[in-house]
Amino acid sequence: MLRTHTCNEITKKDVGSTVTLTGWVHRRRDHGGIIFIDLRDRYGLTQVAFDPEFNKEALETAESVRSEYVLKVTGEVRERPEGQANKNMDTGEVEVYINEVEILNTAKTPPFEIDQDKPVNEELRLKYRYLDLRKERMQKNIVLRHQLIKIIRDFLSDEDFIDIETPILIKGTPEGSREYLVPSRLHPGEMYVLPQSPQQLKQMLMIAGFDKYYQIPRCFRDEDLRGDRQPEFTQLDVEMSFIEEKDVMDVTERLLIKMTEELAPDKKIMSTPFPVITWKDAMEQYGSDKPDIRFEMKLTDVGEIVKGCEFKVFNMALDNGGVVKALRVEGGGKFTRKDIEDLTELAQVYGAKGLAYFIYEDSGEVKSPIAKFLSDEQVKGITDATGAKAGDAVFFGADNFETACTALGQVRLACADKFDMRDDSVFAYCWVNEFPMFEQDEETGGVAAVHHPFTRPMDEDIELMNSDPIKARAIAYDIVLNGNEIGGGSIRIHEQKLQQQVFDILKISAEDAEVRFGHMLEAFDYGAPPHGGIAWGLDRIVMLFADEPNIREVIAFPKNQKAEDLTLGAPSVMPEKDLNEANIKAINLPEDGEGK
Ligand code: AMO
Ligand code: AMP
Repeated sequence: MLRTHTCNEITKKDVGSTVTLTGWVHRRRDHGGIIFIDLRDRYGLTQVAFDPEFNKEALETAESVRSEYVLKVTGEVRERPEGQANKNMDTGEVEVYINEVEILNTAKTPPFEIDQDKPVNEELRLKYRYLDLRKERMQKNIVLRHQLIKIIRDFLSDEDFIDIETPILIKGTPEGSREYLVPSRLHPGEMYVLPQSPQQLKQMLMIAGFDKYYQIPRCFRDEDLRGDRQPEFTQLDVEMSFIEEKDVMDVTERLLIKMTEELAPDKKIMSTPFPVITWKDAMEQYGSDKPDIRFEMKLTDVGEIVKGCEFKVFNMALDNGGVVKALRVEGGGKFTRKDIEDLTELAQVYGAKGLAYFIYEDSGEVKSPIAKFLSDEQVKGITDATGAKAGDAVFFGADNFETACTALGQVRLACADKFDMRDDSVFAYCWVNEFPMFEQDEETGGVAAVHHPFTRPMDEDIELMNSDPIKARAIAYDIVLNGNEIGGGSIRIHEQKLQQQVFDILKISAEDAEVRFGHMLEAFDYGAPPHGGIAWGLDRIVMLFADEPNIREVIAFPKNQKAEDLTLGAPSVMPEKDLNEANIKAINLPEDGEGK
């Protein structure tokens, strides 16, 4: 090593000894003839001093040194003078008087300051990610990610799970999102795809007898991006044989608790065992399949109460088999017209046609544009059912079940933010299970799998699969933390016949099934054990543990919102020769033919 110590190691016990440090110039201060430099490495900072009385030559070299230069310095450890100690630094009681300095490398002035946590344009941060990663906050996040993964590996290994790698170049899978294609050079016109997840392969590993598998795989999905989505992201992927839903929940829960206790000791876990909420209840009560249960503010069904009222919107929703839901917001009586307009717009983003409301004045009187359409009894019924009091507001959603619940669920979150009800110091984990097996696919008009086509229906709903498949529930579960879906899984189908039935419902023809999943169907014929598993979104978990607002902050080299890697400049136009070799022809190029 070029150094004897890291920049966070030296303390009072080292006073008098000679040490050699290496690192970057974090800050440099010229104090009338003496230069002080905070030297930085990933462990921390040490103050080093260049004093003409100690070593003139070293001082002369230090004069040419600028921010982010890379130095090797040797000197004597001294205690800082009375009153000069810095309690915020581990090395704050000492400084090193330098008699030998070597500039290992110079540095251009960085495009943003590394020694400060000021907001910097994200494009710039991503372009110079290697500089951005030098910042304390990013270093902490990356180290946290490592620590979290280490706990996962140690824990699962101790519980007999085996880490098995699966290929990255695979056959097109049918899991829902768009796949990244990789052209084959050796097979003109044919493609590999990058896996959306190792789903089929981990199921084959169960058939192979590895009854407890895990892997920390990269997954690729060519979908529209949001703060908690990346085109390539990392999962903790787990699969187990001879188990039931509760076994998957049990391992997940114990591991999450261990991680929280060790890496987020300041967070209070709201309740253990984690509450299990059915999908139906989650939607009914919280208006979300990933409920934030840190606060109550539950929705109430008021369909029965308003039935037959004169408000057309409510009646129409009920007549069409929909619902009328209400959300009581304590203190919402203070909302201004603008607040209500904003909430209405939010509800509309989630498909609502409007957001009717009651405002309870301080006198208890109800003010509402729709009150005139309701009888006094109905108004009282709503007040009683929601528990509304003077000074509150009640919002209404009238629509099909999912739209009404989802829109009010978003209003619920927005109101919680307004009243600061989402306590950062609490980790509220919960399970959501009994998801529907299928959903109506708006685009095709057909039926699609909610999770993926290998998910097992609940035993009591197997009958429904023939008569009314849309009502059938799956043995599928999501793990949710503070309103974020951090993982999801299911018990799988392991019998060829049942799998075929699901394909039939999904209208995947026998030939299509054969081409796309012939290998799976065949594998099920060779003694597939009952099995199931889960995959965590690892980036999302690190994001929540790090208290970061988006997953890009916990990924060393993330893509931006346009799926570009700004550090390397990907994607990029490839030379024609490479395209020819890959047997592909670029079409629909932008005007200039240059890609971007
Ligand atoms: P699923 O598709 O629910 O399940 O993915 C599991 C978890 O991965 C995270 N996640 C993402 N994180 C970042 N960016 C994305 N684009 C992204 N997409 C998903 C979520 C999600 O809960 N094979 C199944 C799992 C199984 O059945 O075992 C699967 O991939 O946190
Ligand atoms: P309108 O009759 O369209 O003027 O609506 C009267 C009130 O009902 C307004 O506050 C609308 O925002 C609200 N509203 C309209 N449609 C719905 C709906 N589907 N669910 C809840 N509120 C609605």
